[in-house]
Amino acid sequence: MCGIFGYVGEPTEVGDDVLAALRALEYRGYDSWGVAVGVNGHIGVEKQTGKIAQATVDFPTSDIGFGHTRWATHGGVTRPNAHPHLDCTGQLAVIHNGIVENFRELRDALIGRGHHFRSETDSEVIAHLLEETLAGGVPDLARATAVVFDALQGLNAVIVMDVRSRELVAAKTVSPLVAGIGSLGVAIASDALALRGHADRVVYLEDDQLVRLSKSGLTLYERKTMREIPVPLMALDVSQGDTALGAYPHFMAKEMAEQPAVLEHLARGAERPIRELAAAVRESYGTFFVGCGTASYAALTGSYLYSRIAARHVNFVVGSEFKYHEHFITPQSLVVALSQSGETVDVIEAMLAARKRGARLGAVLNVARSTLDRMVDLRVHLDAGPEQCVLSTKAYTAKVAVLLLASHALAGTYERGRDLVLSAAEGLNHMLAADWTEQVQEVARSIHQAEHLFVIGRGLAFPTALEAALKIKESSYIHAEGFAGGELKHGVIALVAPGTPCIVYAPNDETRADILSGAMELKSRGGYMIGIGPTPDPVFDVHLLTPDVADAAPLVNALPAQMLGYHAALLRGNDPDKPRNLAKSVTVK
Ligand code: AGP
Repeated sequence: MCGIFGYVGEPTEVGDDVLAALRALEYRGYDSWGVAVGVNGHIGVEKQTGKIAQATVDFPTSDIGFGHTRWATHGGVTRPNAHPHLDCTGQLAVIHNGIVENFRELRDALIGRGHHFRSETDSEVIAHLLEETLAGGVPDLARATAVVFDALQGLNAVIVMDVRSRELVAAKTVSPLVAGIGSLGVAIASDALALRGHADRVVYLEDDQLVRLSKSGLTLYERKTMREIPVPLMALDVSQGDTALGAYPHFMAKEMAEQPAVLEHLARGAERPIRELAAAVRESYGTFFVGCGTASYAALTGSYLYSRIAARHVNFVVGSEFKYHEHFITPQSLVVALSQSGETVDVIEAMLAARKRGARLGAVLNVARSTLDRMVDLRVHLDAGPEQCVLSTKAYTAKVAVLLLASHALAGTYERGRDLVLSAAEGLNHMLAADWTEQVQEVARSIHQAEHLFVIGRGLAFPTALEAALKIKESSYIHAEGFAGGELKHGVIALVAPGTPCIVYAPNDETRADILSGAMELKSRGGYMIGIGPTPDPVFDVHLLTPDVADAAPLVNALPAQMLGYHAALLRGNDPDKPRNLAKSVTVK
């Protein structure tokens, strides 16, 4: 989702600095970008559709500037729709992340009062509202921004620039913003990564606050009262490990290969927070795991693990559906968010709703100091290092490993859980060896031109089938669907035509006999059968061998699908790190 960066301070090549900071935010996913710089008495703006890549901007040195990478929500991918947006006077500029849900009525009223719009976006209404509010006599930019921000409905992060007063002012609801102080001035961004080189002490903005950036530094306000409050600065911590691509061709390849080390690290180093999570589950009357996309499949896997290992009922719900399920949340409930980024808006909204009902909040997440990390009562950090590919790989297996260990902690068999995770890590190391990956590439060649592909699994392998399908669809754009193996006769099998690739997870557990008979049904209708599991079977046309690691099977069963998706993507000419239309963290609804 949209990336934001702004600076006020000593004159620098601020246009170039902004562009470089936006490059650090490229992983968030975007389709256009723009930079605004205060130049003498006016605001210079450069905007482009497409990627920043080798782009350059041409601005004189200045003491104020900001920029934005846009992931289109309202209005097509065009240069006029790229941010920043100016007001009618050209003295004010706005960049925005989120959706102004009442923008239509605001826009119509502004046009009715003579304002001229240059874009189709919801965001531009903010610039014109600000123009009116200041012209109407509100004394300063900070107060005017507070008035305008409160007129916006929805979840938004907004930064405004006034070239006359040489200041930036920002406010946000849910969507993240972090401001900081450096040697040359002050800066603000949607992710601390972009503040590297611009700040050494930072403050994470809260939903009820507003921050002003000027040459005199940072000023923090309680937005409702505009009472100035102390700035709780902390050291900027972006030493989140290795962000370089190294010798890998893509971040997806690197992050798939990091999975064994991530699992070993968790197995050996996360016992205390995992036992804390297990104790919270034990003490709760009703535990809910909440996540979106890949994280939701990790959460669903967790519900099977808690049942099988600890005989404990744990509810699972998709983040965006939580608000339709929250009626039975009580102060005795425990709601645990699963999220790599810690910024997924559907999960944050679910957690805010749970908090309103008095529930205890937990999180299993990868990015420290993210919004989710700062709002929960207890957390387990995956400590998996930066996951920069839009597709989640190592963070998925890490979440599942945490839930496996927490289930065993609850059952009083933590050492057994640790041994399983370590054996899964060892198994992944063998799978990542050349001959296994060459076999996967061969299978990818045989399926990469398919239009449809199905994945089936039962029990623990059912959520794995869902995750496998997501990996393949979001990397290769093949229409891949995951199904519970027992659902074939309830409609799914109508989809299978001769040659349709069908991936079957066949672990050595209680599901094997039934999933193999499902495989026979698919094969008898012409399916091209791809088996994944520790034991081959004649029903399969090709078999990808995985180690037998009992309940840790989900930890080794993800890699075949990740790698199939990766190679099929390359064969189809896709960029596996930045799939079309997708963003690394979905910070808008
Ligand atoms: C995963 O490959 C996808 N990019 C997506 O489904 C992702 O898992 C989802 O958006 C949740 O992200 P989070 O883990 O950062 O909350």
